[in-house]
Amino acid sequence: MKYSKIVGLGHHVPDTVITNQYLSNVMDTTDEWITERTGIKERRWINPETDTVANMAAKATRMALERAKLTAEDIDFIVFATITPDYFFPGSGVLLQRELGLDGRIGALDIRNACSGFIYALSVADQFIKTGMYKTILVVGAEIQSTALDITTRGRNTAVIFGDGAGAAIVQPSDNAGILSTHLHSDGKFAEELYVKDPGSSRPHAERQPEQILDTTSFKVVMNGNQVFKHAVVRFMEVINEALTTNKIDKSEINLLVPHQANLRISQYIQEKMGLSDEQVYNNIMKFGNTTAASIPIALSEAWGENKIKDGDIVCLAAFGSGFTWASALIKW
Ligand code: UT7
Repeated sequence: MKYSKIVGLGHHVPDTVITNQYLSNVMDTTDEWITERTGIKERRWINPETDTVANMAAKATRMALERAKLTAEDIDFIVFATITPDYFFPGSGVLLQRELGLDGRIGALDIRNACSGFIYALSVADQFIKTGMYKTILVVGAEIQSTALDITTRGRNTAVIFGDGAGAAIVQPSDNAGILSTHLHSDGKFAEELYVKDPGSSRPHAERQPEQILDTTSFKVVMNGNQVFKHAVVRFMEVINEALTTNKIDKSEINLLVPHQANLRISQYIQEKMGLSDEQVYNNIMKFGNTTAASIPIALSEAWGENKIKDGDIVCLAAFGSGFTWASALIKW
């Protein structure tokens, strides 16, 4: 066994479609501004009565299992990437385990690396598969960003971008194809450039009382969009090139680049810099917005479902986000 291979992919997004028109009715923004600056036309937001991070993840998992012709009983470990867990603790990994009816039988690990979370999670799964520790690992990226957005003009630079959803991948050992390498990076200097402050543990008791914090933005996503954008375009390129150099693969050999769906302008910038055709880069941000850790597995699942990924293809995943963290994975499908 040389590789960890993705043998099944699935995704789930909530039913409620939030259009740019809807947002322009509740804050000072326009469809033109959002489309031009981000490429997003609509996104999905949860119904808090029915949707949770864990139950969306379970729906994505069932789709991935079905496509892989496996059952939940085959899973022997869960790696769950999210920065929006259902509870402050425990993480959503154990909740997904419960949703799948696997209580008490397997381990569940939570990963909190924001937009890079799915690639970090895949990298962890890859190591467990390569050492022979586990044979069938469920890797999930799932997020509910909508409930932490400031849906007013004050929060318009984040409210228009983020969406909710879940994606899942099943990883197993393989002798002839799979993950060639993963590359993980971070720089905590920029932690507060994109973050949600509360419920943080490092403040005095009085400051953590709901009446102190509810009227502030401390429970909301705060982003210095410009700063994030500038770092993103540089780091995306670096980490993709790192993956290509490590594997002695030329950019022209990439069959499909699946970038984290942060902003269509970022994807287009990378595509242009790398000289890739439209067929070589997968984007679905137009429909789902930026779903943080869920964006890559949702995009991969859609691309696979549309027959855009075939056996033997070279697929490159890349992400950048809060932390800052950034990462890539090169896969021979
Ligand atoms: O996924 C993880 C990482 N996240 C990202 O990669 C996101 C990276 N950043 C971005 O995508 C972009 O920075 C944004 C789309 C968030 C913002 O676009 P921008 O071109 O960087 O705009 P800006 O923040 O520089 O703001 C330009 C103007 C400002 O007005 P003034 O000060 O020039 O009068 C903003 O107040 O646009 C204004 N603005 C808006 N106007 C209408 C900001 N958001 C909106 C909005 N509608 N939704």
